[in-house]
Amino acid sequence: MRFERRIAFFFIFILALSVPAALSSGGQAAGKADDAVLLKLVREDFGRLPPVIAAANNPVTPAKIALGKMLFYETRFSGDGTVSCVRCHPFSLYGADGLRRSVGAGGKPAARNAPTVLNAAGQISAHWVGNRKDVEDQATQSLIGNASPGAPSADAATKELQKIAAYGPLFRDAFPGEKDPVNAVNYGRAVGAFERTLVTPSAFDAFLDGNVKALADAQKAGLARFIETGCVQCHSGVYVGGQTYEMFGVHEPYWTYTKSPDVDEGRFTVTKNPDDKYVFKVPGLRNVAMTPPYFHDGSVARLSDAVWIMGKVQLGLSLAAPQVESIVAFLASLTGEIPSEALRVPILPRRD
Ligand code: HEC
Ligand code: HEC
Repeated sequence: MRFERRIAFFFIFILALSVPAALSSGGQAAGKADDAVLLKLVREDFGRLPPVIAAANNPVTPAKIALGKMLFYETRFSGDGTVSCVRCHPFSLYGADGLRRSVGAGGKPAARNAPTVLNAAGQISAHWVGNRKDVEDQATQSLIGNASPGAPSADAATKELQKIAAYGPLFRDAFPGEKDPVNAVNYGRAVGAFERTLVTPSAFDAFLDGNVKALADAQKAGLARFIETGCVQCHSGVYVGGQTYEMFGVHEPYWTYTKSPDVDEGRFTVTKNPDDKYVFKVPGLRNVAMTPPYFHDGSVARLSDAVWIMGKVQLGLSLAAPQVESIVAFLASLTGEIPSEALRVPILPRRD
């Protein structure tokens, strides 16, 4: 961070801490001025969520969204007939599954912890190590993924879908003009279009919009702390992360603190470049308070512990308990509202 910004933050930080005192002594004007300064600085580092996460290569249409939502719930093409996306990404748990590692078709464990699908479409890639291009690619490949619906092949999954005749017209509406629209690529496009609607605006977005009362004073202080401490070096932008790959364990090996039973070499497993050892995608932190356990292996159960470990291994700092609590208070302001349409469970067509 530039030196002048650090100085500005030092002041805003002191001010943020003194807001409650200032208010109680009638210093409302001072509070307003601080809000304005904080808002200006925050707008430089973060952004408001769009209504839909658009993509040029997969226009989001009502027909695709409706079909995608059904397919997100569809289990009947899975390797053992029981697994859909919802198994590991239920909205009741904010699009994650609450397990250290998910369990897929045939009881097979997944290699890593399931991140949330909410706002996931806005990231540079999908998966902890970025080995899926985007949500469409992720969904298509997920059909045959070991721990995913786990169909034996894309063809086998497509054949199962074709057996449910009512899907034919739904695919034709979603992909007009295509000769054989029921295929694995279009499965990914439809599911991806649905995921592109899974956007969860929160109090933080209201704050970014200029409603300075949307965040409690403790959350504003935590936000200033988040920036001043340096979390924002990696967790910034609209999704508060999700845009870069970084080493997990810049100052010390991560497993010293996470107590992970296995060491994961991260992006190295994909690129084979030694510089990518222990490098992971920086996760977006929207809804993070709702999606424990934390980290790529789900090794840490509590958000406050995850925050402390971040300070330790990414920034070389030993954050004191009140500092951690303050950041946790800010992170809670990133819990947003799941679109009501996504929360309505679809009824799937009968298989004759
Ligand atoms: C058996 C559990 C399981 C099932 C079923 C499953 N997922 Fe996942 N999902 C995971 C896990 C685990 C990861 C992380 C994989 C990794 O990074 O190596 C993941 C990652 C993702 C991501 C990337 C998120 C991010 O932040 O990088 C998206 C998007 C996603 N899944 C969507 C889906 C969709 C759509 C389906 C249905 C086609 C699906 N998942 C089925 C467990 C599952
Ligand atoms: C140098 C980059 C960097 C900095 C600085 C950084 N992080 Fe992270 N953060 C990461 C990476 C990379 C991960 C993923 C680690 C893994 O593989 O599980 C992560 C993961 C997290 C997670 C877990 C998210 C989840 O869904 O499991 C939280 C919470 C978090 N960071 C908060 C913070 C806070 C708070 C700070 C400041 C104290 C911070 N981070 C500083 C890069 C960074």
